[in-house]
Amino acid sequence: MPRTEFIATGFYVPPRVVTNDELAGMMDTSDEWITQRSGIKTRRWVEPGTTCAAVAFEATTTALTRAGMKAADLDCIVFATTTPDHFFPGNGVYLQRMLGIPGIPALDVRDQCSGFIYGLSVADAWIRTGQYRRILLVGAEIQSPGLDLTTAGRDTAVLFGDGAGVAILGPTDADRGVLSTHLYADGQHAEKLWMDGPGVSHVPWISSELIAAGKHRVRMEGREVFKHASTCMPQSVMTALHANGLTPADITLLIPHQANLRISEMVQKQLGLRDDQVVNNIQKYGNTTAASIPIALDEAIADGRLKRGDLLVLTAFGSGFTWASAAIRW
Ligand code: COA
Repeated sequence: MPRTEFIATGFYVPPRVVTNDELAGMMDTSDEWITQRSGIKTRRWVEPGTTCAAVAFEATTTALTRAGMKAADLDCIVFATTTPDHFFPGNGVYLQRMLGIPGIPALDVRDQCSGFIYGLSVADAWIRTGQYRRILLVGAEIQSPGLDLTTAGRDTAVLFGDGAGVAILGPTDADRGVLSTHLYADGQHAEKLWMDGPGVSHVPWISSELIAAGKHRVRMEGREVFKHASTCMPQSVMTALHANGLTPADITLLIPHQANLRISEMVQKQLGLRDDQVVNNIQKYGNTTAASIPIALDEAIADGRLKRGDLLVLTAFGSGFTWASAAIRW
């Protein structure tokens, strides 16, 4: 059976840089509070009306150019996002339409911050079994229009940013590629990080009452998220390493989902990793949910931090709760 290799990656973030000081002009917060608690200094926001499919399209264009491929060479799209352009259909078909490649399947993944690794797991299985040979895997988010930019929303509004990252995946017979993926979920914690509406548990699905009650805003029990994220991510990394007969010392690069610099530091400490083994770029982009891992991966490649034969490990944690890991021989 072949393995799944990363043929090319690409990412896109909108040009508008939003500083902590700018947020402090909108709500009761400060650069000091945000930096101390999360590590975030800036994030990117789109201009109003920009769609999630559009930022994914930009990242895809970069990846296709780097791969020396045309959109028509793709035979499947797997699109992970928490912030779809519409209730339905999912974003995969909108991206497919923009790319001008009707007919190929478009799968939408709804696993929030873990979406990219969940999508990778599905794409890897399809590639190894030969069902598809050129899969576009997308993580893209537009968080900014949904943020509550008043003091009431400050616990989450300061954390999230917009952006997209993609990978083009294909089979290889060489001794490299995806070694394993491990996926987890625990719905007991569903309401600890969620957006209640709109949704069919409300009659009607959306109403002025629902909006007045703020049910269309992200709600988060920050400390609970922090506690679970900082234990589940290292556990899932250790599971990935054990499954492949490896140890933390074998890791060239760990890319944790960029939720919070403090969480990434806890993960690093628990795994006993050096600074040069862990990728952090949340300082620049904030938490871009499903997009954070592919954006960080693309930056790490551009910085020359991954060479052929290196061991790359990904791990994520997010709403659901869901969490996941992947081990990749580069
Ligand atoms: N600016 C200033 N003060 C803020 C604030 C902000 N942006 N957000 C919250 N506060 C205040 C709170 O109101 C609270 O005030 P009080 O003590 O007067 O009640 C105080 O800061 C402490 O709030 P708390 O929520 O206990 O802070 P914390 O130390 O837990 O840090 C998070 C908050 C959100 C940074 C932290 O819990 C966290 O990072 N959690 C994980 C979040 C995450 O990663 N989410 C995405 C997962 S995919």
